[in-house]
Amino acid sequence: MEIQVSTQAWHEAEADWLVVGVPESPDLSGGFAALDAALGGTLSRLVEAEDLTGKLAESLSILDVPGIAAGRLLAVGLGKNDELNVERCGKAMMTAVRKVASKKNRSVVIALPESLPDGISAGDAAAVAARALIVGSVGQDSLKAEPGHHPLSAATVLASTESEADAKAGVGKGAIIGEAMNLTRNLVDLPPEMIYPESFAQRASEAAAAAGLTCTVLGQAELEAEKMGSMLAVSQGSDSERAPRLVKVEYKGGADDAPTLAIVGKGVTFDSGGLSLKPSDSMITMKCDMAGAATALGATIAIARLGLPVNVTGYMGLVENMVSGRSYKLGDILTARNGVTIEVQNTDAEGRLVLADVLSYAVDSGADRIIDLATLTGACVVALGEEVTGVFSNNQDWADAVLGAAKTAGEDAWQLPMFDHYADLLKSDVADCRNIGGRWGGAITAAKFLEKFVSEKPWVHLDIAGPSFASSNKSHREGGSTACMVRTLIEVASSLG
Ligand code: BES
Ligand code: MN
Ligand code: ZN
Repeated sequence: MEIQVSTQAWHEAEADWLVVGVPESPDLSGGFAALDAALGGTLSRLVEAEDLTGKLAESLSILDVPGIAAGRLLAVGLGKNDELNVERCGKAMMTAVRKVASKKNRSVVIALPESLPDGISAGDAAAVAARALIVGSVGQDSLKAEPGHHPLSAATVLASTESEADAKAGVGKGAIIGEAMNLTRNLVDLPPEMIYPESFAQRASEAAAAAGLTCTVLGQAELEAEKMGSMLAVSQGSDSERAPRLVKVEYKGGADDAPTLAIVGKGVTFDSGGLSLKPSDSMITMKCDMAGAATALGATIAIARLGLPVNVTGYMGLVENMVSGRSYKLGDILTARNGVTIEVQNTDAEGRLVLADVLSYAVDSGADRIIDLATLTGACVVALGEEVTGVFSNNQDWADAVLGAAKTAGEDAWQLPMFDHYADLLKSDVADCRNIGGRWGGAITAAKFLEKFVSEKPWVHLDIAGPSFASSNKSHREGGSTACMVRTLIEVASSLG
């Protein structure tokens, strides 16, 4: 979908829908008053009747409004003006687009909010609108005969003459971000019988080629040659049917000698738990266990398409965690790529075993800074709830950079401690360490495990087990994959350039 930018007056814009943002307790002397006057006072009467509240993401649609060329007006609440930020603006825009896109072949014009608070430029608002147009018109139900959301037949963002150039740049950027989020979402939302290591790698190479990036795929024999005994053990239960893959996608936007950011993703395309089998209720959503890899891919591609002046390499460790006569077993002692031996005490703590080898591979491939993303622990969801990403690091400056980027992107992330004594919980009598840390502090002991494989490079681990996958649809976002942290990673890369 091509999103147009137009400097037309909002009442002249022709479309099925005109979307207008309305602040809570609108200022009746500003732009809202002009709109109200043109509509013969309809808006202020609706405000008086409390039908139109302007509360964040509350919307009201009005048919056949005299004085506008569009078929319907969709007034969507922006909330209190002084509270408006990128995240809240996104919620309002997503709500509007999801409503419009719930019917087939609709065209839409979005009028950006007239007065924006400090900190949001017209370009930012246009980027938010473009992202919403792209993300909000695609659902998780692509395999239904009648999906709940449809492509828009046309989409336009209105801008003033002064802000036209900024709005155009913003729309271009927002569209790239939205498309990357939809790539991530699609990979996560498709069922595990369609997305397995080989098919994920295929999708990744196609997306990388389309963005002009180098993509390398390592198969089973190459992983064996790399001595990735930890990752390969997880894959063993199904490797004769679904062999593992390691995908590396390289973008060189910076100078040859500039540092390289590695984005490493956990790609367990289905997590049954292995012999430490999950109960059905916990297994139902385990197609989402490759969300880290899908996020690493989406973000790397977006960073490249945005042409950011940085060097970024995405790494995706792809396996299934399944049950068979060949499955890895409790008591097995694995030798990871870096030589560390690991006693397996729970085959459901598999994500860290995959990341162990991919992290050490990234370090040896020249990573200067690392961010990994993983749906790693239920314990992180217990600690922070379903909407917040857990942040763990061996380097506070690097953690602060990632936390700052998350704040700018409007994504909730919270740091947890990495005190030395947590590592004691991983001690084993028979190997260098074991793969679980006992009952308490499970998100942290998982992070302490990963720390053994990053060779003291500045590293941030993002546990996205909670926020990456939503159990239900809401008016402002589809259930299923949320593509969380794609925007944060793009912000991180922007701040490095
Ligand atoms: N993939 C799961 C973590 C998960 C839980 C992701 C909920 C998304 C939603 C991970 O592989 C896992 O099973 N972790 C175990 C670790 C335990 C055995 C130490 C867990 O969290 O229970
Ligand atoms: Mn597991
Ligand atoms: Zn898992």
